[in-house]
Amino acid sequence: MFITFEGIEGTGKTTQIAKVRDYFEAQGREVFLTLEPGGSRVGRDLRKMLLHVDNKDLTPITELFLYLADRAQHVAQVIRPELEAGKVVLCDRFADSTVVYQGYGRGLETKVLHQLNEVAVDGLWPDLTVVLDIDPEIGLKRATLRNLEEGKAKEEGRFEAEHLTFHKRIREGYLTWAALHRDRIRVVNASASQDEVFDRIRDAIESALTEKK
Ligand code: TMP
Repeated sequence: MFITFEGIEGTGKTTQIAKVRDYFEAQGREVFLTLEPGGSRVGRDLRKMLLHVDNKDLTPITELFLYLADRAQHVAQVIRPELEAGKVVLCDRFADSTVVYQGYGRGLETKVLHQLNEVAVDGLWPDLTVVLDIDPEIGLKRATLRNLEEGKAKEEGRFEAEHLTFHKRIREGYLTWAALHRDRIRVVNASASQDEVFDRIRDAIESALTEKK
């Protein structure tokens, strides 16, 4: 089973992914955790390039192709082999981030982005995508605090430095895109307590598993 997690910064994705891992492990399943950008060896260099504050001059198209390159390598070298080995793969961000950030966020054509994603993922779409939804003002406060605590403000602070209006567009983008792909994408309200959010994610996973049977 392949599950991806999406949302603006500071929705608590990392915490929830860890809970989902525990849930599957408790059932005796082997779980592989990964992320984009940066899930493959080459991808780790691409991630540094993409997220460093000094690289504000990347054009939207350059950025797009770096994310797609990261994804193609990640699918071929990491995600597909792990799934074939029978593991549950949980991925922090995937193809929908490109449609939402580069499309709804930066203004590139979402239809074209979807087609480019089709090339990058090479037929491997998630069984389920969970979008964690939160008010961007709350999300950004959480993300900025986390970066400061982890001393990552410079290396990974490029997106958090964007204006609030950009993050509002991203949130709306996720909701619009999710409504167009209800069969795969589930929106979960992430402003509730961590346990309540997890309960909703677990429900989404269980109904996705039932549909697969
Ligand atoms: P994060 O993994 O710490 O959330 O940071 C990744 C950032 O990269 C996040 O702001 C969203 C952005 N991003 C894109 O713009 N397009 C993409 O395709 C992906 C995977 C991430």
